[in-house]
Amino acid sequence: MNAKQAAGYRAAEFVEDGMVIGLGTGSTAFYVIEKIGQRVAEGLKVSAIATSKASEELARKNNIPLIEAADVTELDLAIDGADEFDPSLALIKGGGGALLREKLVAINSKRFIVIAGADKRVEHLGKFKLPIEIIPFTYEWTLNQLRKKYDVPFEMRMNNDELYVTDNGNYIVDASFEKIESPSTLSEELKAMVGVVDHGLFVDIAELVIVGYDDGSTEIVNKK
Ligand code: 5RP
Repeated sequence: MNAKQAAGYRAAEFVEDGMVIGLGTGSTAFYVIEKIGQRVAEGLKVSAIATSKASEELARKNNIPLIEAADVTELDLAIDGADEFDPSLALIKGGGGALLREKLVAINSKRFIVIAGADKRVEHLGKFKLPIEIIPFTYEWTLNQLRKKYDVPFEMRMNNDELYVTDNGNYIVDASFEKIESPSTLSEELKAMVGVVDHGLFVDIAELVIVGYDDGSTEIVNKK
């Protein structure tokens, strides 16, 4: 058992019969999907929406029934990883590039639970590069606007020699803020920029974080 598995497996205990759930993306979400799959094999009845093509494939492999967004108005529970979380449970997400679908699923869920190894816990968000999803059309101008507004390094995310393309057909810019003084202010500012679709700051969305440790133990962290 490692820290990610401990957190993922503990989170699967929050899933109840009949729930409609949101499945996160990444190496920690892998374990919650795996465990839910085991519970489905034992008779648990759930249906799910995945936050990426990769997680959708994983859900299929684990025989977790998938539904379309049009089939429900709201999810009961979404469970996902994070790249950083602070004491207010504000998050940076999107290291795996799925931030937009992850945010859509999280905000349309009654409960949003985060799973993470203890290394993701920080006092201030920003050491992890903040992913910003931008529209490909005139993306160079959007990048210039970002550079004009914030004096921090921005890099277009690459996939070998090509620009990285999200599941939604957009690009990602990774921003090295180092220390984000006010995640909510930055979140609103970025959202207001033309060309920006969304970004990896999740403020006031997470209800709790399940932190996993390498000895297999877990800790529930609530908002301060
Ligand atoms: C993907 C995400 C992931 O949840 C985040 O990157 C954490 O991934 P991991 O569990 O592999 O560390 O936001 O877009």
